[in-house]
Amino acid sequence: MPRLVLGNFVKFGVIMKKYEFISKDFPHFLHGGDYNPEQWLDTPEIIEEDVRLMKEANCNEMTVGIFSWAAIEKEEGVFDFSWLDLVIERIYENGGRVVLATPSGSRPMWMAEKYPEVMRANFRGERDEFGERHNHCRTSPIYREKVRIINEKLSERYGRHPAVVAWHLSNEYNTGLCLCDNCKKAFRVWLREKYGDIDAVNRAWWTSFWSHTYTSFESVNPPHDGAGESRLHGLNLDWKRFNSDMAVDFARAEAEAIRKYSSIPITTNFMGNYEGFDHYKMAEVLDVVSNDFYPRWHGNVDGMARSTAQIGALLRGLKGGRPFMVMESAPGTNLGGMGFAKLKSEREQFFEAMLYVATGADTVQYFQWRKSRGGWEKFHGAVVDHYGRSDTRIFRSISAVGEALGKLDGVLGMGIKSDVAIIRDYENLWAIDGKCIQTVVKSPLSAAHYDIYDGYFKAAWERGISADVIGFNEDFSKYKVICLSVPYLMNESKAEKIKRFVFEGGTLITTFLTAVADDTDLCYLGGVPGAALSSLFGLRAEEVDDYHGIDTTSKPRLANSVVYKGKSYGVAGIAECIIADGASTLAHFTGNIQKDMPAVLCNDYGKGRAYYIGYQPDNKFLADFMGDVFSELEISAESSVKPLSDGIRTLVREGDGEKYAFVFNTSEECGRVELSAEYTELLSGKRLSSEQTLDALSVLVLKIS
Ligand code: GLA
Ligand code: ZN
Repeated sequence: MPRLVLGNFVKFGVIMKKYEFISKDFPHFLHGGDYNPEQWLDTPEIIEEDVRLMKEANCNEMTVGIFSWAAIEKEEGVFDFSWLDLVIERIYENGGRVVLATPSGSRPMWMAEKYPEVMRANFRGERDEFGERHNHCRTSPIYREKVRIINEKLSERYGRHPAVVAWHLSNEYNTGLCLCDNCKKAFRVWLREKYGDIDAVNRAWWTSFWSHTYTSFESVNPPHDGAGESRLHGLNLDWKRFNSDMAVDFARAEAEAIRKYSSIPITTNFMGNYEGFDHYKMAEVLDVVSNDFYPRWHGNVDGMARSTAQIGALLRGLKGGRPFMVMESAPGTNLGGMGFAKLKSEREQFFEAMLYVATGADTVQYFQWRKSRGGWEKFHGAVVDHYGRSDTRIFRSISAVGEALGKLDGVLGMGIKSDVAIIRDYENLWAIDGKCIQTVVKSPLSAAHYDIYDGYFKAAWERGISADVIGFNEDFSKYKVICLSVPYLMNESKAEKIKRFVFEGGTLITTFLTAVADDTDLCYLGGVPGAALSSLFGLRAEEVDDYHGIDTTSKPRLANSVVYKGKSYGVAGIAECIIADGASTLAHFTGNIQKDMPAVLCNDYGKGRAYYIGYQPDNKFLADFMGDVFSELEISAESSVKPLSDGIRTLVREGDGEKYAFVFNTSEECGRVELSAEYTELLSGKRLSSEQTLDALSVLVLKIS
């Protein structure tokens, strides 16, 4: 008998709505990618040929301007938009649309020469020489001013152009280190705003340890390993917060300049699980999020599909479920930054594109349209090769994707419904990163965190259950289950929110090292979990053990196991000594200091239930345990498509009463499914019912309501 969970009724009432399209005037999947006409200004016939080939490749979008600054502003204050006018006009005349980028990812040489402060500086204050990209100082007033000027000019000129459907801010914002005086000053201002006076900083960072007490804000420097302060966890964490805030602030300033003349959606391209800035804060600056996807087609297809879907879940969670853009992916191979050399088959290229759409993408875009003749990425996969014509395997595979996307307009704007959510908390990620934390255990906690985070997702994925990835700001009442992984850093408002969720009927799952420290990484007094969470979990975690020896990357030196429902499971390295105080024990340890102590506990709280996994579990345990939680809460897979073979994964997009099922065969063998009724398959236009065979690495798109 499943337990009656009142919170569920709220969930059952959730009706999925269709989300806004990227462009309401162009209700189609954008299919195209990064295009760099500035490299071809001496050969206008090539640009003309590009415009012709785009249509042939079934591409309807080009992302231009990303690295165009030197071509637009050749000298300070002298702007030449004539070539960009022409390119945008030609694409539009040919039925295409443009995503227009601001060029701040890479600056012209005159600027670095005249204003060295736009470049980053090292610990000794020495500025980088001109070169590379994505390496400007984010606090430099001159850089910000130059970016404002060019952004406003771009917006004024193109912000209402019917060809331009979205803005692409900069490129892959990152938080690489700059230790220049401007950054140091900005950090001190940031600290003053946060803490008010230096005594508050001293208290928050516990500087009385080792006599590190600060005497003024001016004496605070960014952390530096080896040649400065690096042993104050609160400083390390605040420095990460500051850098994140500077990235967001830089983006906000870019967006404000664009907004002066233009109201079309603004995005910037993320890098999946990149942790450098708080994506939830960055997303507040944006109308829609986008991402650069470079999945590795080097073996386990199901694993690749799962990690792609997991990034999709993260992206949707940044904008309350809104579909995202795939700003970049590789046509063929990625020989640039990531250095993949494996060629992609036409089938793989198609599978990848459909996977993006199934996980919530409303665009499929590539890096890059045409291969450059020179430069770092001249051999990176592109729709158009150096060969220059359309009779190539990759060109054909991209045209096939475009043709298929043309049949899927109905899917645009559809969301994805999930009963399960996994929390992503950037501040916690920074706190458990090796550079921030020390001494709680010797194992890398980030790795343990990701294993479990992925383990939750995998447990759902393998059962055909959709999981979201959300931040603490999301509305928790939409979910039946919320999962946390090593939430070491927990402030009282987050703690209060999870308590309320459980109290009102939700199910919460957490792990070892829950709520050990507060926002500035000061340990809670009075026992772990802190933040007044002991009543939620009904336990106290007294000590934490790490079975690894000196080498945390090899197998743990000590073995242990836990017994759950009569079955034995391994302990992957970390184990707590837990004293139950109201919670019931679901699994116990069999050896070491923890012998017979509880390993997994559960506590009813209000109308809901909280589970505590007091050790580092393996995926086998998570799969079985999560399976039990799912069946108890009656969370199940989409029922219209029943897998009859291994590796079948069905992902559903729905909204306004319509529902589309993407059925993937991730296996290298033929697969089979059983359909519950007769449905239209959108790619072939055929009506399908009962048992169906799927070729290896193939996909069906069924309209199921
Ligand atoms: C990133 C960048 C692109 C290009 C690709 C290569 O995603 O944004 O400019 O360098 O990598 O894979
Ligand atoms: Zn700087």
